[in-house]
Amino acid sequence: MRDLAGRVAVVTGAASGIGRALAARLAAEGMRCVLADIEAVALQRAVSDLRHAGAAAIGVPADVASAADVQALADRAVSEFGAVHVLCNNAGVGAGSDFADIPLDVWEWVLGVDLWGVIHGCRTFLPILLEQEEAHIVNTSSMAALNGHPLGLAPYTTAKAGVLGLSQNLHFELAATTGGRVGVSVLIPGLTRTRIFESDRNRPAAVAAPPPSSFRQTSQAAIAAVWDDALDPAATAEKVVAAIRERRFYILTHADEAFDMVEQQLRWMKANVPLAPGPGVARTADPRP
Ligand SMILES: NC(=O)c1ccc[n+]([C@@H]2O[C@H](COP(=O)([O-])OP(=O)(O)OC[C@H]3O[C@@H](n4cnc5c(N)ncnc54)[C@H](O)[C@@H]3O)[C@@H](O)[C@H]2O)c1
Repeated sequence: MRDLAGRVAVVTGAASGIGRALAARLAAEGMRCVLADIEAVALQRAVSDLRHAGAAAIGVPADVASAADVQALADRAVSEFGAVHVLCNNAGVGAGSDFADIPLDVWEWVLGVDLWGVIHGCRTFLPILLEQEEAHIVNTSSMAALNGHPLGLAPYTTAKAGVLGLSQNLHFELAATTGGRVGVSVLIPGLTRTRIFESDRNRPAAVAAPPPSSFRQTSQAAIAAVWDDALDPAATAEKVVAAIRERRFYILTHADEAFDMVEQQLRWMKANVPLAPGPGVARTADPRP
């Protein structure tokens, strides 16, 4: 999708982190932006910043886990700007515990946002995108989808693997049915400096906090050790815009690490010797066969 200026983008989870940077980057391309988030105050701040920078932007408070909210988001985007050309299903939360200790409602919360949020986004917006001359969907997965880590976050890992599978399937279907007129990308970010590790702030009041996992300390230490190297969300957003323009499916912010993880999976699959469990954040190739 070469021409972004004047077209319309919808970004979920746009009040913080990668989503906020994405909205800013798409606005800098001259796109009219619809920002959606469950945090109304932070959302309003993000929209004000974009408007001060001269962008045409609106904010729509929405819970992406709710099909009705996502429908209302689409209705508002179309009534305000008349079309949608780029959809970024980006809102996400991370939570979990040791598997046996994860309450059902924590599963429902995380899968609701991270997987159903993407399903609702694709289902609701696809008819609108199909009406356009060209359009593009970007779904945010995670490196967690590549190797079964991080431990203690089974709902997150499950959801992000689902987003990868959904995106691959939709990519092939739309390539066949639209000849690529509506493109799909999957964003697989490596560690990016955002508030994802503060996802508890987005936990619904009715959902009790899960007990800390046995892996919490090792995971936190692993993250702390590499936090200084975490990517600026603006750099992630830059890659997303390039991928939309070039219609590339995979958007990898840490490509070498992603390739290592996939190669580990291949070795695991071929040798059928399970990899030993590791900490929360994989940074380097696992030397085991
Ligand atoms: N930061 C990383 O290292 C990293 C790595 C891999 C994947 N990701 C993914 O990137 C995406 C963006 O996260 P981030 O890192 O910018 O974190 P973030 O916490 O800074 O931003 C997430 C945004 O999603 C919003 N949100 C949460 N629940 C929502 C809901 N129910 N409805 C609508 N909005 C909701 C939050 O309010 C927040 O503004 C997520 O899908 C996350 O899983 C992040």
